[in-house]
Amino acid sequence: MKIGIGCDHAGLELKNEILLLLKDLGFECVDFGTDSPQAVDYPDFGEKVSEAVSSGRIERGILICGTGIGMSIVANKFPHVRASLCNELFTAKMSRLHNDANILVLGGRIVGKDLAKEIVRTWISTPFEGERHCLRLKKINFIEDRLKKK
Ligand code: RB5
Repeated sequence: MKIGIGCDHAGLELKNEILLLLKDLGFECVDFGTDSPQAVDYPDFGEKVSEAVSSGRIERGILICGTGIGMSIVANKFPHVRASLCNELFTAKMSRLHNDANILVLGGRIVGKDLAKEIVRTWISTPFEGERHCLRLKKINFIEDRLKKK
């Protein structure tokens, strides 16, 4: 599975930790930046990862800003993106089981690196449960289609 990762300055330190973890776990990663601690605008980097997931170029994405809120708002504007802000383990697990989340968002100023790594491990390895949740995801697609026509 190919994983895209992006951050703003507030998520840079955590992004570098998570990149190391993902490589250790054997995943192919695409790093969309930012690469420096200089202040940048989170929509610019959120857009790159979200676009890649939305178009199917990469299967999953991870986005990190200070709280995770800005990146979540950006990512969920993109069709077929189901981004979930998970700063603890239970949400990370449920976002895969019930929501088939394809972008994980983390708050670099909220979670410590050890917890963040556990969240990533859980999120990457938990499958979608399917069944009754498929219809709910279809309903999200219908909403996207309806909004596109406006
Ligand atoms: C940057 O200071 C901060 O606003 C950003 O990282 C993020 O938390 C926005 O939601």
